[in-house]
Amino acid sequence: MSGVGLEKDTGPAPEAAGAAGALLELRDLHVCYGAIEALKGISLTVAEGEVVALLGANGAGKSTTLKAASGMLAPRTGEVLLRGERVDGIKSHELVHFGIGHVPEGRRVFARMSVLENLRMGAYRLRRPDPDDLDRVFSLFPVLARRRKQVSGTLSGGEQQMLAIGRALMGKPELLLLDEPSMGLAPLIVRQIFEILKEINAQGTTLLLVEQNASQALRLADRGYVLETGTVVMADAAPALLSDPRIRAAYLGEVPE
Ligand SMILES: Nc1ncnc2c1ncn2[C@@H]1O[C@H](COP(=O)(O)OP(=O)(O)OP(=O)(O)O)[C@@H](O)[C@H]1O
Ligand SMILES: [Mg+2]
Repeated sequence: MSGVGLEKDTGPAPEAAGAAGALLELRDLHVCYGAIEALKGISLTVAEGEVVALLGANGAGKSTTLKAASGMLAPRTGEVLLRGERVDGIKSHELVHFGIGHVPEGRRVFARMSVLENLRMGAYRLRRPDPDDLDRVFSLFPVLARRRKQVSGTLSGGEQQMLAIGRALMGKPELLLLDEPSMGLAPLIVRQIFEILKEINAQGTTLLLVEQNASQALRLADRGYVLETGTVVMADAAPALLSDPRIRAAYLGEVPE
């Protein structure tokens, strides 16, 4: 690769590279469930190191967008690019090798397995599981270390969410997709989860975060996209979205603390 850096003035970056330096790029994604078109041309980018929030009402297409990005759903048309490389059509279990982790809606932990077994499941696709990953998860979530032998189905909702995030981290993702990590949790636990997400990002993991809790999400995020019925209706820096009257009316109806 040593000669590449010398060839500086060869013109603009090729079109195929898309948004320069994007870790994830979705281009004009159309996703259907049978006759229902859930995504009607979603385009968005997530740069390395960013936290990007994906907001929108129920049924807007947030989960579908994450599922298309992580290979759980194949788009009818459109492209998913990771570092400029097409990955749509690659199955989700293969995408783990490309550095995508997905924490699905509803924290699907394996209820009958212990905490430790769940975490090991997150690493099993790696060719060489790294014991440091377990230490990292336990230092982010000390409660999981204390409860490592406990059957996961008996954990609290917040602990199960932590386990779902920890399990995804065991796959060493560069990009973590999170689908409503605060859903159904008490405010104190929600704040804890957001603090930990901030730390995960500070340690170098890029985050694409779907949230109903728009206020917390936008305070963590660098940028945000708002979806409505399968299309992007707004895209801006997080502070601009936070102070936008339309966002305040639609998503921040509650008085932000
Ligand atoms: N398995 C499915 N079969 C048929 N339609 C579906 C399916 N999953 C989602 N949809 C429809 O696709 C649209 C987008 O759904 P999606 O779950 O992506 O929305 P969402 O923004 O995540 O909503 P929520 O906030 O309720 O989680 C909705 O109209 C939904 O009814
Ligand atoms: Mg959803």
